[in-house]
Amino acid sequence: MTLAQTQTIAEKVRKDFPILHQEINGKPLIYLDSAATSQKPLFVLDTWRDYYTSYNSNVHRGAHTLSAKATDAYEGARDKIAAFINANSRNEIIYTRNATEAINLVAYSWAMNNLHPGDEIILSVMEHHSNLVPWQFVAAKTGAVLKHVELTEDESFDMEQFKQLISNQTKLVSVVHISNTLGCINPVKEICQIAHKYGAKVLIDACQSVPHMPIDVQAIACDWLVASGHKMCAPSGIGFLYGKEEILNAMPPFFGGGEMIADVYLDHSTYAELPHKFEAGTPAIGEAIALGAAVDYLSKLGMDQIHAYEAELTAYLFQELESIPDITIYGPKPNANGFGRAALASFNAGEIHPNDLSALLDQEGVAIRSGHHCTQPLHRYLNLPGTARASLSFYNTREEIDSFIKALKDTMNFFASILG
Ligand code: ALA
Repeated sequence: MTLAQTQTIAEKVRKDFPILHQEINGKPLIYLDSAATSQKPLFVLDTWRDYYTSYNSNVHRGAHTLSAKATDAYEGARDKIAAFINANSRNEIIYTRNATEAINLVAYSWAMNNLHPGDEIILSVMEHHSNLVPWQFVAAKTGAVLKHVELTEDESFDMEQFKQLISNQTKLVSVVHISNTLGCINPVKEICQIAHKYGAKVLIDACQSVPHMPIDVQAIACDWLVASGHKMCAPSGIGFLYGKEEILNAMPPFFGGGEMIADVYLDHSTYAELPHKFEAGTPAIGEAIALGAAVDYLSKLGMDQIHAYEAELTAYLFQELESIPDITIYGPKPNANGFGRAALASFNAGEIHPNDLSALLDQEGVAIRSGHHCTQPLHRYLNLPGTARASLSFYNTREEIDSFIKALKDTMNFFASILG
């Protein structure tokens, strides 16, 4: 597909996102922070509102009509998520608040009960804090040892080092699919194949991949995969854990309370079957239903089409950023068609502090993220105090990239003039 053909994706969908049609500081909003959170289309917001305005009711509890309708929609959304990532069964999808909670669920339920002193967990230096801190808790409690894969010269996951680190001591590999800072797409299928040869389990943090490309958990063959709804056009407060059914069945519950039980006695309880065993308490019902609507919305656009369109935007973003002297971009370069990395660029502009850059771009209506993007160890590894990050989605256009680049150049010229 050429840009001329695929551009219609953004043109077609922008009307679905009223938030994009406003001015910030007197300039049209250019939202380039979708890696932090995506915008939500009207279809998702209407679905969410419809739940609260016409059938708000608790799930699995009432025999009345509203409760049955809410239960059907809530469980129906689970079916949609299972199909979206090609899970083998709906029982493999556990609703969580977000990816962070999903990782903590695996850390507390599986790792705390299965790891022993000397066992090893392999992570990477590019992980988000949510895929570092829970394993630090596990290591402190169980005596397991943390190992970290570093970066290749082009700032990608170092597969050769991974192959050297993995051993029969490795019990878990937990890695990000697409780095929220470097934008590299890690070879998760190969990582799983290697890890499984050593009997290690693999968790994939797919927060930045599920919204941007087709995901097939059976093809990847991971043991767990986590994602957050708010990055994939759904509201915040809902995410999911995918886990192989056999593994989830063997894991004890994480939270205790209503909904996750079969029978409760004063001194002990028996637990519900999957997936409810891990869903204690009244869940985020409207948000889960809205996540199902987000899956419908993305599926209708087509994940292959979204990926192709974003790749073309990536190629253009890189071409334009690289043409500016003094811009340093982190992570691997895209190939000529924009594939091979995600639609985001973390960068620095000479000596300008990323926070200053972001504040001045905001004056031009451009929203980017600055700082450490919840990857402090990666920034420390790269010896950087922070970076600025422009992250794209399928609702962004080439014209927005032009406006961003112009604002960036103007800002850099302004700094050059005051710094002499
Ligand atoms: N992890 C999110 C980001 O990259 C919040 O901005």
